[in-house]
Amino acid sequence: MANNHLTSESKQLATWYFTFAAIIFGAQLLFGLVAAIQYVMPAFLFELVDFSIARIIHINALVVWMVFAMFGSVYWLLPDETGIETVGIKIGKLLFWVFAAAIVVVVLVYLLVQVGPADETTIWFITEGREYIEAPRWADFGIVVVALGFVGNLFLTGMKGKQTGIVTVLMADMIAFAGLYLAGMFFTDNISVDQYWWWWVIHLWVEATWEVFVGAIAAYGLITMIGAHRKTVEMWLWIEVSMLFGSGILGLGHHYFWIGTPEYWWEIGALFSALEPLPLVAMFIHVLYDWGKTQGSQDAKGEQLSVINNKPAFTWFVLNAFGNFLGAGIWGFFHTLPQVNLYTHGTQFTSAHGHLAFFGAYATILIGMFYLGVQGSNGIKVMKNTKLSIWATSMITGGVVGMTVALTIAGYVQVLVSRAQMGATWAAYFDGQSGLWFVQAMDWRLIMGVVTFLGFVLLATDLLRTGKSAVHER
Ligand code: HEM
Ligand code: HEM
Ligand SMILES: [Fe+2]
Repeated sequence: MANNHLTSESKQLATWYFTFAAIIFGAQLLFGLVAAIQYVMPAFLFELVDFSIARIIHINALVVWMVFAMFGSVYWLLPDETGIETVGIKIGKLLFWVFAAAIVVVVLVYLLVQVGPADETTIWFITEGREYIEAPRWADFGIVVVALGFVGNLFLTGMKGKQTGIVTVLMADMIAFAGLYLAGMFFTDNISVDQYWWWWVIHLWVEATWEVFVGAIAAYGLITMIGAHRKTVEMWLWIEVSMLFGSGILGLGHHYFWIGTPEYWWEIGALFSALEPLPLVAMFIHVLYDWGKTQGSQDAKGEQLSVINNKPAFTWFVLNAFGNFLGAGIWGFFHTLPQVNLYTHGTQFTSAHGHLAFFGAYATILIGMFYLGVQGSNGIKVMKNTKLSIWATSMITGGVVGMTVALTIAGYVQVLVSRAQMGATWAAYFDGQSGLWFVQAMDWRLIMGVVTFLGFVLLATDLLRTGKSAVHER
């Protein structure tokens, strides 16, 4: 991503964040493929990169690239929203390198050291063993310092410059986002207590603070890409924020059904998590409503005006509205009532939801931000779709949807055979997994994973090439 057209240092730093994020995204998919191959051929890379290691890297890389892309998005929009250069940008740049170096070391340790002795040194230097946020403790402290620097820059800039609704929401949201990380940093011997706090990070991130972040980014994107009215967009944003926090916080209960927490969580979790799709509907309507309002604008000759100044980014933002609603809202709602979750808990159904939700709610909009970054870096006025961007979008989206369908079918087999018919015994677990439908679903997940990965290769090529392409209006 060339930076030659950027006058703002904040935007330059944003492109660093986007670039690193895109690389880690590629690594995430690669290790996802390794894990998927191991489902089909269990001996693949045995004792070299075992399933447990491939899986750790796959899902931690997922979280890391998204956090990088989110930091980048904030550095990207800050100068536009506040009207000033970001305060403390030199420290911001230094912290970027600290962050990136720490991540590289953590991944190398996962790959080369893999496991440690069952004592404190493992927690400090190898892994904390908490799914999605497995970084060892030394890295935790580094991440806290980086996050403090980032939030500090955001606050100082927000207080000095113009205070739009978007910036205000982001300031509040990012403090909560960073603060929640602390809940995953201390260790207890009691696994129920440990999981109780661990869910604060992962659930309150993806179902509260990250969703609010997406609301803010969608608002910014709609203003910059289709010239949506700030008043309308920010009104929606406030509605979404209040709804998201209203349902998302107590929706936490849907993870407390079976981990040894008190039984009142059944009712709390059922009620509030069932309400969670509502704000997602609001976000969906929001994007489509603003989009609809810009359709049909015509010039004097009756020609359709090209009001969307970044087609690929806008495509990804619209996919976000659909994907968030489907992956988080619908696939989440499916298994959120305790009566249903009793059967679906920890099956491939969970994985189907996990893939579609993370992809639909976050990967999409962050890829959209990559495109905004490329547009700005190359001084492009109107950015069109290229053949590559269309193929990339279709293959990535088609691939993830394909994987989701396969995983949903696999989950269905587990629910029916392993749980309902055979009563969740040890033997039932293996019977479910050897059924024809399950085995075929794992093949299809792998095939669709390859499609996704190839789509990613096209995406990376398109992002790198776009600056040179002549189809765009400068
Ligand atoms: C973008 C937002 C969301 C993301 C990224 C997301 C992602 C995930 C992931 C990755 C898991 C698996 C966790 C694990 O490894 O144990 C999970 C579990 C779960 N999610 Fe979501 N989710 C989102 C929103 C929602 C919503 C809105 C609902 C309900 C309406 C929901 C309901 C559930 C339930 C009930 C589980 C537990 C599944 C089980 O018992 O195995 N999720 N989610
Ligand atoms: C090349 C494409 C991909 C392949 C082959 C793949 C494969 C896998 C595999 C094999 C697992 C382990 C499942 C298990 O423990 O049984 C996994 C977990 C996971 N993957 Fe992927 N994945 C891919 C892309 C993605 C994408 C694009 C996302 C999200 C943006 C994602 C998010 C996740 C999550 C959240 C989990 C944990 C799910 C859970 O524990 O319920 N993956 N993936
Ligand atoms: Fe949740």
